[in-house]
Amino acid sequence: MTVFQPLKFPENFLWGVATAAHQNEGNNTNNDFWAWEQAGHTHDGTISGLATDWWDAGRRRAEADFARAAEMGLNTLRLSLEWSRIEPEENRWDDAAIDRYRQLLTELRRLNITPMVTLHHFTNPLWLAARGGWLADDVVSRFERYAAHAVAALGDLVDLWCTINEPLVYAYLSHLVGDWSPGRHSFPQTFKIAARMALAHRAAEHAIHARQPQAQVGLVKHQPIFDPLRDNRLDKMVSGWQEMLFNRRMFEAVYENRLRFPLNLFAREISVGRDDFIGINYYGRQTVKFSLGAPFTLFGKLVAPPGAEMWDAPWADREIYPHGLYRVCRQAAKYKKPIFITENGFADAADTRRPRFLLTHLAALHRAIQSGADVRGYYYWTFVDNYEWVEGWSTRFGLVALNPETQERTPRRSAELYGEIARANAITPAMVEKFAPEAMVSVFGMAGNGA
Ligand code: FCB
Repeated sequence: MTVFQPLKFPENFLWGVATAAHQNEGNNTNNDFWAWEQAGHTHDGTISGLATDWWDAGRRRAEADFARAAEMGLNTLRLSLEWSRIEPEENRWDDAAIDRYRQLLTELRRLNITPMVTLHHFTNPLWLAARGGWLADDVVSRFERYAAHAVAALGDLVDLWCTINEPLVYAYLSHLVGDWSPGRHSFPQTFKIAARMALAHRAAEHAIHARQPQAQVGLVKHQPIFDPLRDNRLDKMVSGWQEMLFNRRMFEAVYENRLRFPLNLFAREISVGRDDFIGINYYGRQTVKFSLGAPFTLFGKLVAPPGAEMWDAPWADREIYPHGLYRVCRQAAKYKKPIFITENGFADAADTRRPRFLLTHLAALHRAIQSGADVRGYYYWTFVDNYEWVEGWSTRFGLVALNPETQERTPRRSAELYGEIARANAITPAMVEKFAPEAMVSVFGMAGNGA
């Protein structure tokens, strides 16, 4: 009989959950996503409303969730600041908003939960949106000024800063696919925004380090695996384009100081900076097939490979692919910087597949660490079911289930599992046996993962 050894994680590894202001705080009425919801653009017709009700200081729901996280044994939590609260009108700074963030951050620290704070997680203040959002000519300096304000006001409570969350996802969904505000379909605008966000990241990184030299600063990049569906030239060509434009170009801009959006046209240097870590959000693999009918995705159509295990709608073109987490860590490891998995998670209201998802992804992460990738922490997306952009309340990523009407919380089994992993700083055979026995071989042997 094979005896499996526990997979131990490095000492001081950070175990956390990731959240975002608009998806958790509630009543973020002063940003472009709120306006987009009100205009009826969400797929299920719902609005964010109270979200998980983290903003209200009287009801203390954020504080109660933080206590739950501490009890589980989590030692870090990622949240974002809402620009439209901190700077509600251009050049007007709201001290009451800063006070509430100070309360939340102080509470996390009291519980020995290290806060990781993101400056931009998709939403823009209405005043900025009215001036063209990320197409406004001065957006980089506006963002830099906001970053400087946030660091001056909160820097004593935060050591880990993320500048921008998923620049390519934002640019692509808002200005190419048009599913997010302002609903455009323009390649040039999409590339322009991607380039602007790389520049804004650099400007914010400088602004943070100028005020807080010891702070650790990084960008958060959504990093899917793109593979060709078939072993032929056309599929390889189009999946290569997606990999280049969606993944590689941003890494080059941020870690190699070479800005090349789009393609090789308009290549230029960007100022040299000091990124302290690489933030990676990983959700799965997209296999690409050449198709003349898919001009908006550069003639690459996402097609499920035969026999693959896919996500449910609305992300049914995404494959559950734990080995991809190993691969993205290997890609990032070439830059020889600390890596944080700033998001990884699965939408599964019934929580039937999530325990296996967690275990197999963490096993892949463990393998990446064994191979030399300097991974310092992992943030599961997300803690309590929160409001999912245009998908609304229909997708449930939480370790803890939420009834948005009553705000009642009910931990799922995955919360119990994740707590056990965090407290042990390891995955043990007993955990796998208890939560997902069918995953025993893939967790401890990683068989069948294309390793
Ligand atoms: C990521 C986003 C996060 C959430 C998850 C499911 O792309 O950063 O806000 O929507 O996907």
